[in-house]
Amino acid sequence: MKTRKFTRRQVIATTSAGAIGTMINWPFTSFGGSSLSKEKLAALGGEKVHKGSWPEWPVWDQTAEPGIVEMLRTGRWWRGNGEHVEEFEKKYAALMGAKQCVATASGTTALITALGVLGVDAGDEVLVSPYTFIATYNSIFFHKALPVFVDTDPETFLMNPAKIEERITDRTVAILPVHIYGLPVDMDSVNGIAKKHNLKVVEDACQAWLAEYRGKRVSTLGDLGCFSFQNSKHLPSGEGGAILGMDSDLLDRCHSYHNCGRAYGNMKPVTGYPYRGGNFRMQQSQALILMSQMKRIEKDNDIRLSNALYLDKKLKEIPGIVPSKPANGATRAVYHLYPFRYQKEKFNNISKGKFIEALNAEGIPASGGYGKQNKDLLFEEAFNSRGYKRLFSEARLKQWRDENQLPGNDQVCDEAVGFYQSILLGSKSDMDDIVNAITKIYENRDSLI
Ligand SMILES: Cc1ncc(COP(=O)(O)O)c(C=O)c1O
Repeated sequence: MKTRKFTRRQVIATTSAGAIGTMINWPFTSFGGSSLSKEKLAALGGEKVHKGSWPEWPVWDQTAEPGIVEMLRTGRWWRGNGEHVEEFEKKYAALMGAKQCVATASGTTALITALGVLGVDAGDEVLVSPYTFIATYNSIFFHKALPVFVDTDPETFLMNPAKIEERITDRTVAILPVHIYGLPVDMDSVNGIAKKHNLKVVEDACQAWLAEYRGKRVSTLGDLGCFSFQNSKHLPSGEGGAILGMDSDLLDRCHSYHNCGRAYGNMKPVTGYPYRGGNFRMQQSQALILMSQMKRIEKDNDIRLSNALYLDKKLKEIPGIVPSKPANGATRAVYHLYPFRYQKEKFNNISKGKFIEALNAEGIPASGGYGKQNKDLLFEEAFNSRGYKRLFSEARLKQWRDENQLPGNDQVCDEAVGFYQSILLGSKSDMDDIVNAITKIYENRDSLI
């Protein structure tokens, strides 16, 4: 496997050298100094900071077209009689330093398969991060199990390992940490707790292609790891997913599960269908698109990382802007979003919504991250269903509701602001525009009231 070593120090060194050409317009204020940033905010009719465009996503590679047309003409469009999905699985496992890969129809079906193969069953409990895309919880509901939230650490945006053990009950069977935005979770702590309590670990790496923890790719650290290749992702194919891991027997079981329960690999084909399963297979066309997109992902990730570290350095100088902190052991983040916390008290109490609007008006696309989904209606909808009423006692569900207070997660939901990954593919001067726009809003915070 080719592992690109990119230490934090190297990136900062590269960044500063690359930034020399843009130094003339940075910063346009120093705090307390006179500044251009007293110019009228774009939201109030002034000129915007960023006048150009931003990189588009996804980026099509025309050299993939002849191969796709050739495959289409063969009529072998499904993996059953085609070679491309298997070829992708081998290439992706090699890129990620995993023993084996099973390609799936989506990240959701990858998670459903991984949890199913690890034995998550009706009436079980799975510890999960609340700060994630809804699909993470849905994969637990799919097995008629109970998603039990572990609070988020506001500094890292990730599952707080110090809060895991207090949520373990005699029904807990697995932990599902999420490397959200491509920020690696403290996997040593998660795995240590899992080992102590005999729990399985599925890494939701659906936003974390090539992210590293202590120099190893995430998804190879727990029992199984899952990815998404949906259109917005760093490795996109419209829809798609994968399960990776280091245990061939487990991956053979995943292959079987995703292919209607047919025996696979080391499994003995005692009958045609010895196991339950579903059709969660990837198509040939998805695999061909993925192999063409794989050519750019390492270079793109280097650019995102370099720009993210540059933003970290500059943005933390602005009062009220708090970039995410790496979790213990995280060695490489990949930034599906570049997140920071916006502390409105430092901005004259301008709401986060108004701050984002002002940023957008300056030509900087930004969004507000995930909401407090732990309070969303899907939980009561599930708990009031016939199945959940049979599986979980009223006392357990009352306890779940009582414990559904997540101050760390609430803080992240209230304060998070982020830039989508393709913004991070911009130039250093684009990054300076981001810093300058936030500085300008800070300097003009009184005018937004
Ligand atoms: C953190 C996370 N988990 C799971 C998923 C589900 O992946 P998919 O949309 O491919 O089913 C996604 C996709 O957006 C995700 O971001």
